[in-house]
Amino acid sequence: MKSNIGVPFFSDFNADLQIEWQMSRAEKYCFIHLLQHLKPETSIEIGTFMGGSLQVISKFSKQVYSIDISEAPKKFLEDKFSNVQFRVGESHALIPQVLKEIDANNQKLEFILVDGDHTTKAVQRDLKAILDYPHKHPVTIILHDSFNPQCRKGIKSIDYSKYPHVNYVELDYIGGSYWHNETFREMWGGFAMITIDPKHHHETRVTASLNQMYKRVFWGSVHIFKDPLQFLVPFKQRLFKKLNLSQRITMYENFDK
Ligand SMILES: C[S@@+](CC[C@H](N)C(=O)[O-])C[C@H]1O[C@@H](n2cnc3c(N)ncnc32)[C@H](O)[C@@H]1O
Repeated sequence: MKSNIGVPFFSDFNADLQIEWQMSRAEKYCFIHLLQHLKPETSIEIGTFMGGSLQVISKFSKQVYSIDISEAPKKFLEDKFSNVQFRVGESHALIPQVLKEIDANNQKLEFILVDGDHTTKAVQRDLKAILDYPHKHPVTIILHDSFNPQCRKGIKSIDYSKYPHVNYVELDYIGGSYWHNETFREMWGGFAMITIDPKHHHETRVTASLNQMYKRVFWGSVHIFKDPLQFLVPFKQRLFKKLNLSQRITMYENFDK
C-alpha cells in the first residue's frame, strides 16, 4: 500500500500542486490558517526547498527573507515570488545578519518558520540565534518536525529561563507522524510553536501535549538505534559521494535543473 500523508488536501488557498510541499495535510491546513490569521508584516523562512511553505508565507506576508544552504531554491523560485529575498548559506550564521537587516530597514518581524537542518545541534543553533536577538515586536515561531527525536531534543535543550520574553513553548502544537510515506519506523513532522513577546518578563513552562504518544512511539522507532550513530553520517555521505550512490540529502541540491 502506497500512502502520502501530504495529499490530497482541499483549500481555497491556491497551492501550486507541481511543487513538493514537505508537510502533512494537518500541517498544511494549520499553516495556511495560521498565516492567514497572523498576516505578518515581515517573515523569515529557514529551509525552503521547492517553496511549498514559502508560497503560503509569501502570500500572507508583506516581505519575506528565505534562508537556505542550497542555491537551488533561489534559482528555482526567484522569479516566482516578488516579495521574497533569498539568502544562501548556513542558517545559524545568516539569522543574526537578517535580523539586524530587518531592524535597519525598519521592518516589523512577526513570523519565523524553522525547517532547515533537523539535527539536535543545528536546531539548537538556529533557535539560539533567534532567541538571543533583542526582538522589538511579538514574533510567532513554528518549528517543523518537532516529532523527530533529534529535532525535539534541540528544541527541548534550550534553557528557556534565560529568555523571559518567550511566553509560549509547545512541542506538539500539531502532532507528527510515524512510519509514513515509507520512512521505515521513522518519526517526522509536527509543529512546535514558540512565541516571543518583548513585554513578557518571566519564565515560561515548556509544554508537550502529545508527550505520552511521543514516548510510546519512540520505543518502537528506528531512532533508538539510528540516532546514537549520527556521528557516522558525514563518513557515510563522503563514501556515498565517492561511490556515486544516490543520497536523500542531494534532493535539496539538484531539483532546480
Ligand atoms: C525539509 S526541507 C524544507 C521544506 C520546506 N519548508 C517545505 O515545507 O516544503 C529543508 C531545507 O533546509 C535546507 N537546509 C538544510 N540544512 C541547512 C542549513 N544548515 N542552513 C540553511 N538551510 C539548510 C535544505 O537545503 C532544504 O532546502
